[in-house]
Amino acid sequence: MGKSKVLVVGGTGYIGRRIVKASLAEGHETYVLQRPEIGLDIDKLQILLSFKKQGAHLIEGSFNDHKSLVDAVKQVDVVICTMSGVHFRSHNILLQLKLVEAIKEAGNVKRFLPSEFGMDPARMGHALEPGRVTFDEKMVVRKAIEEANIPFTYVIANCFAGYFVGNLSQLGRLTPPKDKVYLYGDGNVKGFDLAGQVGVGHFYHIFYEGCLTNFEIGEGSEEASKLYPQVEYTRMDDYMKIYV
Ligand SMILES: NC(=O)c1ccc[n+]([C@@H]2O[C@H](COP(=O)([O-])OP(=O)(O)OC[C@H]3O[C@@H](n4cnc5c(N)ncnc54)[C@H](OP(=O)(O)O)[C@@H]3O)[C@@H](O)[C@H]2O)c1
Repeated sequence: MGKSKVLVVGGTGYIGRRIVKASLAEGHETYVLQRPEIGLDIDKLQILLSFKKQGAHLIEGSFNDHKSLVDAVKQVDVVICTMSGVHFRSHNILLQLKLVEAIKEAGNVKRFLPSEFGMDPARMGHALEPGRVTFDEKMVVRKAIEEANIPFTYVIANCFAGYFVGNLSQLGRLTPPKDKVYLYGDGNVKGFDLAGQVGVGHFYHIFYEGCLTNFEIGEGSEEASKLYPQVEYTRMDDYMKIYV
């Protein structure tokens, strides 16, 4: 496979860190956006410096400085954005519209992967409030990308194991429950804060409605295991051993 110059935006985040690592491991020339806004966040800085040590290039740029984003994307062929879409941390999916503007102006980017990595928002037009914001905002970003004629790949990752396996898909925790598990119903549960309501709506679609499996993948898309047959998968019972 050909090597590319890849810029990761959001590189110190949960999935961003793993994408930087994977890009370096695949031998791509890897760039990571270093935002001045991280300020005194020593953990983020240390992560960025460790990327640099592993051969990545750090590029300074800010979502508050359009020119800096244009200059950053001008240096690469591929832009991968892993902007936060997680409601209990920070949720900034629409900020990507600024990145889309920068990519459009720069005009050189051969492929943009926006921050998707979840359920396919195009299949979630019927989603429940308030969780539908996740899908609606990702669709706004898709529309902007497509209107700007930017070549794109949307990665539909469904459920990350780190969030859904260890906890046996229980809301509000990441480790295995020891005494009881809840079986989910119709999502009409009271008493959650906003992040909880978003989460329980998604759980309704995943576990009650079966939105991850009740369709054919269809034209213009590929099943990832066919694209990357060399990837070795971890069985659930092996994965669970990290929690013992
Ligand atoms: N399928 C699943 O189970 C699942 C689970 C979790 C997430 N996701 C999806 O994966 C994607 C990434 O989520 P994540 O959990 O990796 O995100 P995250 O760790 O919460 O945040 C990722 C990055 O977003 C950037 N960011 C956050 N607020 C910002 C702001 N105000 N201005 C500029 N940058 C900001 C930061 O970049 P810096 O590195 O520059 O600081 C941060 O490191 C989302 O689309 C989310 O929906 C899917």
